[in-house]
Amino acid sequence: MALSEKTTLPPPRHIAIIMDGNGRWAKKKGLPRTAGHAAGAEAFRRIANYCRTLGVEYLTVYAFSTENWKRSQEEVAGIMKLLKNYLEEALRDMEKNRVRFRFFGDLSRLSPQLQKLCLDAEQRSHEYDVQVNFCLNYGGRDEIVRAAREFAREAAEGRRRPEELTEELFAGYLYSAQVPDPELIIRPSGEKRISNFLLWQSAYAEYVFMNVLWPDFAPEHLDEAIGEYHRRNRRFGGT
Ligand code: FPP
Repeated sequence: MALSEKTTLPPPRHIAIIMDGNGRWAKKKGLPRTAGHAAGAEAFRRIANYCRTLGVEYLTVYAFSTENWKRSQEEVAGIMKLLKNYLEEALRDMEKNRVRFRFFGDLSRLSPQLQKLCLDAEQRSHEYDVQVNFCLNYGGRDEIVRAAREFAREAAEGRRRPEELTEELFAGYLYSAQVPDPELIIRPSGEKRISNFLLWQSAYAEYVFMNVLWPDFAPEHLDEAIGEYHRRNRRFGGT
């Protein structure tokens, strides 16, 4: 598939990305893993801006999984610092950029300072339209279990009846409540796994796996993934 592929078709409404390959990018350059994550944060800025230019309404990124705590303390601290810097910057430029922020995941394990930044970003941006969802201390199975637990609690208290549970109602208990499912999920870095990402929401998504490492991900790669998405849609959709 040609790079710098551009399409006139509208982009998917919701794109989700597993930002993978930061560690390998750093290793190839003889740099510490944290430098790979810093370059990954830059790639995120680049792609979030490009999504806005294209008119993508929702961008969801996997920033930190429930399994990522197993990494070295230094690496975890490095990623948290990048998130903190980004959110401080986003709060500063909020009125100019008009991006709505949501956070999918159990934030209670984050530092109080980072939790507050997430809360402020969510509250101060709730009226904006273009939306970025950060998956932070997020796991797809964990999300489903929490939703089931909450529904069960309400049923036990008599506020819900088991028979009234539908897919639509259940989706409202997930972190992604009120967000439409992603049509396109991109995983760079050559890995072909789902890694516990948006398990419920990805039921009908198109997956595009790409060989580029996330820090090298450029607008042209997004064009390429969207082109692939449209080709698949044209082949299988329609009447
Ligand atoms: C996976 O690559 C990446 C992560 C676990 C962290 C992603 C975090 C960022 C890109 C920075 C977050 C900050 C902002 C502002 C978005 P990996 O480390 O598993 O790569 P590898 O498989 O090559 O080792």
